[in-house]
Amino acid sequence: NSKTTNICCIGAGYVGGPTMSVIAQKCPNIKVTVVDLNEERIAAWNDDDATKIPIYEPGLSAIVSEARGKNLFFSTDVEKAIDEAQIIFISVNTPTKNYGKGKGMAADLKYIELCARQIAKIAKDNKIVVEKSTLPVRTAEAIKSILENTGNGVQFEILSNPEFLAEGTAVSDLLNPDRILIGGETTKEGQLAIQTLVDIYANWVPIDKILTTNVWSSELSKLTANAFLAQRISSINALSELCEKTGANINEVAKAIGMDSRIGPKFLKSSVGFGGSCFQKDILNLVYIAKSYGLNEVADYWEQVIIMNDHQKKRFSNKIVQTLYNTVASKKITFLGWAFKKDTNDSRESAAIYVADDLINEQAQIAIYDPKVSRKKILSDLDYLESRTYKENSKNVASFDNPYDTCAGAHAIAILTEWDEFVTYDWARIYDSMQKPAFIFDGRNLLNKSELEKIGFVYHEIGT
Ligand code: NAD
Ligand code: UDX
Repeated sequence: NSKTTNICCIGAGYVGGPTMSVIAQKCPNIKVTVVDLNEERIAAWNDDDATKIPIYEPGLSAIVSEARGKNLFFSTDVEKAIDEAQIIFISVNTPTKNYGKGKGMAADLKYIELCARQIAKIAKDNKIVVEKSTLPVRTAEAIKSILENTGNGVQFEILSNPEFLAEGTAVSDLLNPDRILIGGETTKEGQLAIQTLVDIYANWVPIDKILTTNVWSSELSKLTANAFLAQRISSINALSELCEKTGANINEVAKAIGMDSRIGPKFLKSSVGFGGSCFQKDILNLVYIAKSYGLNEVADYWEQVIIMNDHQKKRFSNKIVQTLYNTVASKKITFLGWAFKKDTNDSRESAAIYVADDLINEQAQIAIYDPKVSRKKILSDLDYLESRTYKENSKNVASFDNPYDTCAGAHAIAILTEWDEFVTYDWARIYDSMQKPAFIFDGRNLLNKSELEKIGFVYHEIGT
């Protein structure tokens, strides 16, 4: 849209950072400012060395270095950015509430509300406010009420524009999205606001992939999409346990059902359990919303996806303990991978955290190598569970910057993330350095079973 010359995004995280970088690259005539309260994060986004940006995503640092300083800016001056922008994207975190009503289930909307109040305070001219964060259905109503009641007579239009990027593939997902979803009011002003946002995406997204709906459909579609994706993983993981009992092979079963074009091949990879900041939080939120309308069967149906996922993680740690002769006390267990999937430095809700917690309860010594996750992050992930003190966690966890030292002397190796580099290791060298029998528990069905067995490993994968 020739009219839009200035936009801002509140929240410079895994969504705000990559999304705005791609918009800036594709819309050179729009000034894009990404703001955050976190000074350290903004400083990292502004680091002269673009490989030091706070989020690791293949292809992202190149886009940031291309656009930064031209029409892409990272700043802590939230008020100035709000004041100058015609469109304000809200991309702050919406974690599961860990206190009060809805604790452990509902989305915590305190950061969203803060943004709305700040916009209301600062805005002196009409603005379009875009919900980019994942929000419970009908949140736009609350945002509207805050804006209208404190908004100095300024007109606000609220749009829902959920983000469907997956971490690790954020840049290609943003450049080539399956669809862009924009929900707005059915009023004339609402439709105009929708069109303004459509015009931005139309700079690089084919128009038939830009879907417009009412606000509530858009908000609910985001929760629904994540629930469906996670449900496929819990479905295949549920069957992996049955495969282990019956001699069926989950890799073969997944291939066989995935070739049915009605089912399709994607998201059928059995694993140690899904992680990431979205699936669990969004399903819990869906369950909470269903319950709040008295829809108990609907709530129970979706909650089962989480119950299955928790079971899959637990099953993996139990299997390690049982196989190691029912005790891992004082044994070195090596984790290859801590991130919740490959090609990201994000470890939020990673299955590795829960598996490590179980094994530390069994007094194992955990040695961890991840190509992108720091020891500091690993310890803070464990600390967040509040299972024991920080000091106790530090005693039980060692981290290394190369895989061979991490594996030396170990009783077992557990693969928690499917990083490509793990496949290329010198596995014979690793075998020679380990205690015997040398066990591998492959939580990602990543490695080549017959090759490893030839070397001498006792190899266990999921669902075979
Ligand atoms: P994040 O935690 O990486 O980033 C959020 C940022 O917002 C943080 O840096 C935080 O400091 C900042 N912030 C919070 N309150 C603020 C305020 N009042 N003013 C300025 N900055 C503030 O989170 P994320 O992963 O980018 O997720 C953001 C939203 O997008 C969530 O609702 C999430 O559900 C959704 N989402 C995430 C993904 C994903 O893959 N991570 C994908 C789609 C949607
Ligand atoms: C997800 C959604 O895919 C994305 O559309 C949404 O915007 C945010 O949430 P993300 O969590 O970044 O993205 O990664 P995703 O690729 O969905 O993987 C989530 C988890 O499921 C990871 O732990 C992954 O390892 C696991 N997974 C995925 C499987 O175990 N098996 C699969 O077949 C696919």
